[in-house]
Amino acid sequence: MPKEHVIIVGSGIAALVTAWHLHEYRNVIIFTKSKKEESNSWLAQGGVAAAFSKQDDWRFHYEDTMIAGGYHNDERAVETLVKEGPKRIRELIAAGLQFDTDKDGRFHLGNEGAHRHRRILHAGGDQTGRALVSFLLEQLRGNVTIIEDECVIELLVHNGRCIGVKTKNHSGIIAAHYASAVVLSTGGCTGMYEFSSNASTVTGDGIALAYRAGAVITDMEFIQFHPTMLCVDGKAVGLISEAVRGEGAVLVTEDGTRLMEHVHPQQDLAPRDIVARTIHGEIIKGNRVYLDISKIANFSERFPAITKLCKSYGINIETGKLPVVPGAHFLMGGIQVDSRGQTSIPGLYAVGEAACTGVHGANRLASNSLLEGIVFGARVAETLRRHEQNTITYEHLENRFVKKSRKLLPTKQQIQTIMMHYVGIVRDEQRLTYAKQWFEQFSIPDFVNTNVDDFKLEEITIIHMLITGWLITTSALQRTESRGGHYRHDYPHADENWQQRRILRVKQELMA
Ligand code: SIN
Repeated sequence: MPKEHVIIVGSGIAALVTAWHLHEYRNVIIFTKSKKEESNSWLAQGGVAAAFSKQDDWRFHYEDTMIAGGYHNDERAVETLVKEGPKRIRELIAAGLQFDTDKDGRFHLGNEGAHRHRRILHAGGDQTGRALVSFLLEQLRGNVTIIEDECVIELLVHNGRCIGVKTKNHSGIIAAHYASAVVLSTGGCTGMYEFSSNASTVTGDGIALAYRAGAVITDMEFIQFHPTMLCVDGKAVGLISEAVRGEGAVLVTEDGTRLMEHVHPQQDLAPRDIVARTIHGEIIKGNRVYLDISKIANFSERFPAITKLCKSYGINIETGKLPVVPGAHFLMGGIQVDSRGQTSIPGLYAVGEAACTGVHGANRLASNSLLEGIVFGARVAETLRRHEQNTITYEHLENRFVKKSRKLLPTKQQIQTIMMHYVGIVRDEQRLTYAKQWFEQFSIPDFVNTNVDDFKLEEITIIHMLITGWLITTSALQRTESRGGHYRHDYPHADENWQQRRILRVKQELMA
């Protein structure tokens, strides 16, 4: 029985793949602040991108990833992703994971925006994330313990090394848990926006925890908006996968005019930032935008979850027109890591959307996120298997954070509104400055250094949202250009002086 413990925070695909590759060698404890199925991975519809077809090649996948990412990507991370992807997927298939196939037993490969070839593996039609997560949860036995409803509220750092986590549960019980390594796999933060495709729990916890502990955070200004969320009563209520456009759906205005026809050579399958901004431009003029699905045969068989979503809101798919609006979908930045998931703090790793390897550049290519979890989860696990550090239990650990008098906090909704309207699809100096000042009225430096033990769990979520929202806003203000998911109305073009320049954030700058 292995003695060393590894703690993984979060229960999405990156967390579970890491645990899957590790559990024969280490005791793995997974903490999740809600239920294990509550993650963006569970909700993922589209699929997993990988070059499997005869006419495809990892080099094409590489180029498509770089183009979508506005060439802000880390080239080596992209090469790792697209080269190792097929091998890692085959490992899962060999263990029993099934993807949808055609009648001849070959993978049914879907198409999505900015991919030059069909290369999206999917499962259960449009329920790929759910199939992957369920499969991995079934596989994890023995040395893996999943603790639900227990929220990590602080990373324990001693002599510059991460040695464990402090948790709090819904009964208010606080506990310290020690480990030879901690892996943050908490997802991104785009549940911080009023319109979002994310699980409601995905609000930047991991990024704020890492920042509070002193880790380097980067590329926070790059937020991807998914072009097509179902729009009901003026609100975004759920994702309509890009795979729908991959099967031939097109964006139209009220009178049926094609929206993307003259905007980009790839039309409805242009990179997401371009499609989302075009739809946004129509909506702010007061127009409605629809996804015309009338050309897709057997829609409800190919897209059962989307059909169910539409039905639940009384939208009749037989009309062939689904009302859509963009919603915040993915954070390209996050906790800075190397290609093995190592953060700037020894003993602390990050993987999946919480991490920034630079693989997505300024805008993630569709269906590269589950792939990221699969590839980099395996790499983090390999590193941890070689990791010799023992787990040490500390009896009297000095608390680095100070108790401050309680401060007034905003509501989650207030933060979501500010993010949507001032740090959203189209940004400018005036809006970003307003948002920065709004965040700063809540004394961010105090919260970064506050001992949060006495706060309720909902309040800790708000504190983490404030820190993360402020990181996004200040980074967006600093980047005076437009690239990928970061679009500045006052600097509408990419500036070569910013190419490959990353904005790094670390809490020491607050103390200066
Ligand atoms: C989608 O199905 O459109 C979302 C998949 C992704 O974000 O890659």
